[in-house]
Amino acid sequence: MIKNKLKADFIQIYGEREEDIRFYFSPGRVNLIGEHIDYNGGFVFPCALDIGTYLAIRKRPDNEVHFATLNFPLTTHFKLSETIHNDMKHGWSNYPKGIIKAFLDLNIELSGMDLLYFGNIPNGSGLSSSASIEVVTAFALNDLFHGRLGLLSLVEMAQDTECDFIGVKCGIMDQFAVAFGKEKSAILLNCDTLDYVYVPLNLDGYRIVICNTNKQRGLGDSKYNERTQECESALKGLQKALEINYLCDITPEIFEAHKGFIDQAIPLNRATHAIYENDRVKKAVEALKENNLEAFGQLMTASHYSLKNLYEVSCFELDVMVEEALKIKGTIGARMTGAGFGGCTVNIVSDAFIDEFKSSVSAHYLERTGLKADITIASVGDGVKII
Ligand code: GLA
Repeated sequence: MIKNKLKADFIQIYGEREEDIRFYFSPGRVNLIGEHIDYNGGFVFPCALDIGTYLAIRKRPDNEVHFATLNFPLTTHFKLSETIHNDMKHGWSNYPKGIIKAFLDLNIELSGMDLLYFGNIPNGSGLSSSASIEVVTAFALNDLFHGRLGLLSLVEMAQDTECDFIGVKCGIMDQFAVAFGKEKSAILLNCDTLDYVYVPLNLDGYRIVICNTNKQRGLGDSKYNERTQECESALKGLQKALEINYLCDITPEIFEAHKGFIDQAIPLNRATHAIYENDRVKKAVEALKENNLEAFGQLMTASHYSLKNLYEVSCFELDVMVEEALKIKGTIGARMTGAGFGGCTVNIVSDAFIDEFKSSVSAHYLERTGLKADITIASVGDGVKII
């Protein structure tokens, strides 16, 4: 369906030509637990969704690159011979521009091309719309221009683009999850070694429910970089006593014995979150394997309060959404997901309580915040692919 529409619109915008149009899809992701620890060398537990970014692409005979999307009126173009830089005026197309620059920097030969995107991840919702655009573009260019880069190299390229071209010093979780996602599974990823395993999401009688606060992230990006710096400062303190590369290299016990080496309160709180969150991920995955969903849910909720109180990346709207969710008897876990400062919460809710959850949480959320919530049941899908 979406592919047919994309094809018709592509031809309407760019015209008919002999060259084939190719189609790709990359999902968004929701992180179940393990927040703000990918850049601290910890474990994360995300899964890919069935919503994401669609891309139709066709080579051009010249060296011009044209971008359009069905989501906004903005279109842009540039020549491959120009210096490619991040330009605020170009909005969302800075993501694919950054990827094209990365291919050129690797001396992979490109020709001109027309690109048309369509995304159905709500913008600024913390479900990784930017990683999804980056990864779908990298995957498509690699396929179209015979780049011969493996999936992990494409993930790293997308992460570097986000860090260096876009300027958000993110970890690898989002790009990894949208590339490597697998239907009905979450990915337990060690962000230090990049070892990963798929864990089947057997949630007998329960659903993953995503609640969008519709509070956009706003200052999120600058606050994000501030958190990575605070973690670095905490790490430096601990390195006076311990030979470690990342905060998540140590267990809570070792941390408790050495935390006195962190001499400022804020970095100490950030480190406390990171080290205990890493421990929660390991416990949560064990609980899931043992079918102990109650324990899994409790760890999710503990993660939220740690992100709120110690890491300080929640906000009023996210907290209200979590509080209201936890008032429903069938909710066994609720937390903010993604970078924070707005966006979505993720919840585990019993099938029998889904209707009550939807009506009660949205009504009380509206009453308390003046905002309309969007509540959906997550459907866990595959990673980036040709369609
Ligand atoms: C954003 C970043 C990720 C990760 C999360 C928080 O989504 O892109 O790398 O740090 O925030 O867990």
